[in-house]
Amino acid sequence: MSRKRVAILISGRGSNMVALIAAAKAPDYPAEIALVISNRPDAAGLARAQAEKIPTAVVDHTRYGKDRAAFERALEAELEAHRIELVCLAGFMRLLSPWLVERWRGRMLNIHPALLPAFKGLDTHRRALAAGAKTHGATVHLVVPDVDSGTIVLQEAVPIGAGDTEETLAARVLAVEHHLYPQALKLLAQGRVLSES
Ligand code: GRF
Repeated sequence: MSRKRVAILISGRGSNMVALIAAAKAPDYPAEIALVISNRPDAAGLARAQAEKIPTAVVDHTRYGKDRAAFERALEAELEAHRIELVCLAGFMRLLSPWLVERWRGRMLNIHPALLPAFKGLDTHRRALAAGAKTHGATVHLVVPDVDSGTIVLQEAVPIGAGDTEETLAARVLAVEHHLYPQALKLLAQGRVLSES
């Protein structure tokens, strides 16, 4: 079995990255984590990746000023240098331009902490509570130029209880994320995800 070479892009703690690395240790998992890239040099997830002996790279967006194209060319150069075939965004907090997204169309996943198409964007847990939603959850989807859109690969719901706070709800959703993302990457690596165009 040839395992797909995967890069994970992070900006912070990297708990979804850790879940993907753990899943990819199974001998029959169809993907290997070949690279972790952070746009922030201080991302806690970098040390966690290094502890797992995964190659890491920092492409610091602040070094490129307003030149997003140059930042994305640097990202793309890292992906190419490591012969990456699939990309997982996991708490990566930079918007990507259509140039990079089109380059990876059908080969780039994102995880979003809500039941898309509900609650696109930031602060999903706070907004779900404020809206009085009874269910919430997580979604893994293919990345397209429109933010938090694109074919849904997997999603899973969690209940919202009367006593929930942003923190308790975030923790419940995160536990779901950690098993949902490895399942979704497995489907993509097996060629079982159809892109809409
Ligand atoms: C997760 O909630 C993910 O859904 C969102 O950002 C958070 C990243 O957390 N996109 P972590 O860095 O994977 O711990």
